[in-house]
Amino acid sequence: MFSKLTAYYNTARSLPLPAVFAKALRKTGFDSYTLQRIDFLYAKEFQRPEKAAKILFDACKLAGVDFSYLIRLMRDKTVLEIGCGPHGGTMPLALVAGAKNYIGVDPLFNEQLFSDIAAGGRYLETALPENASFLRSNVPGIRTQDVGPQSAMPKVSFKKGGISQRPTDEPHVDLVVSISCLEHIHDFSKAARDIANISKDTIHFHIVNFSNHLYKDRPFAELYEMPMHEFSKKWKGNINGLRMFEMAKIFEEAGLALNAIPLDMQAQALPTSIAPWWTERYSQDELSIRTAILTNIDFPN
Ligand SMILES: C[S@@+](CC[C@H](N)C(=O)[O-])C[C@H]1O[C@@H](n2cnc3c(N)ncnc32)[C@H](O)[C@@H]1O
Repeated sequence: MFSKLTAYYNTARSLPLPAVFAKALRKTGFDSYTLQRIDFLYAKEFQRPEKAAKILFDACKLAGVDFSYLIRLMRDKTVLEIGCGPHGGTMPLALVAGAKNYIGVDPLFNEQLFSDIAAGGRYLETALPENASFLRSNVPGIRTQDVGPQSAMPKVSFKKGGISQRPTDEPHVDLVVSISCLEHIHDFSKAARDIANISKDTIHFHIVNFSNHLYKDRPFAELYEMPMHEFSKKWKGNINGLRMFEMAKIFEEAGLALNAIPLDMQAQALPTSIAPWWTERYSQDELSIRTAILTNIDFPN
């Protein structure tokens, strides 16, 4: 009970008050379009529309790979994002980087909100120029695409649903990205097969967060202190519990070879007592990986 209150308090602390009220009411089952709109307008993504760009930038920096190379891969390409969230994640970044199309897939995507001029429209008005400015500051010599809300819309499509429920008439996808999504997918073997089947020549860049998703300062607390099925029961299946090499192996078995690059190893954050369920399955090094990239991009040295 106490740990649940701490986790909710931590989430609430980082949000503006209207968002806290909207989230709390929605959690109790009292949902409405007005509350969804408040949640959307006061979300971190709305306040900081370059959030996804910054996550990709920081991940590349930690991995020692060239962010500019990743961004340049988007030009004239169709980008698919798995778990794009309600704001369309990397969509503004992809468009100003010159992507031909962007497809976002997420069970939480809300079509009505996104096409609402006062919500999605307002978001695009700031998100596009802010992502362009982020790119100009961080990618030497880039010429960003001059795209506004009107010209963006025909290039963008969203699918409310999981990655396995994508439409079959989708255009050829050149690049698939995801940020902190793969760890939430439960039937992972099925999802991995569907991702691998997108096409043989599709390139992938996935950032995965292996923490407990509860407390930023204690990324493995509770998670490693009990068997995964108990953690899952307590936290309503918030994550699938797969670790980095296991995820890469499932992709490989599905026909997609991805390099696994640990970004952030936090051995000092491991709990003093780790349940045998974890130590019997994984090495200490693997347990200490907090975030990683799974990719088949052959970055230049
Ligand atoms: C932690 S959020 C991350 C959202 C966003 N990428 C970000 O970085 O803020 C995980 C997202 O994955 C989505 N998700 C969960 N299962 C999914 C699935 N099977 N296919 C696509 N998206 C999924 C959730 O709805 C949620 O929006």
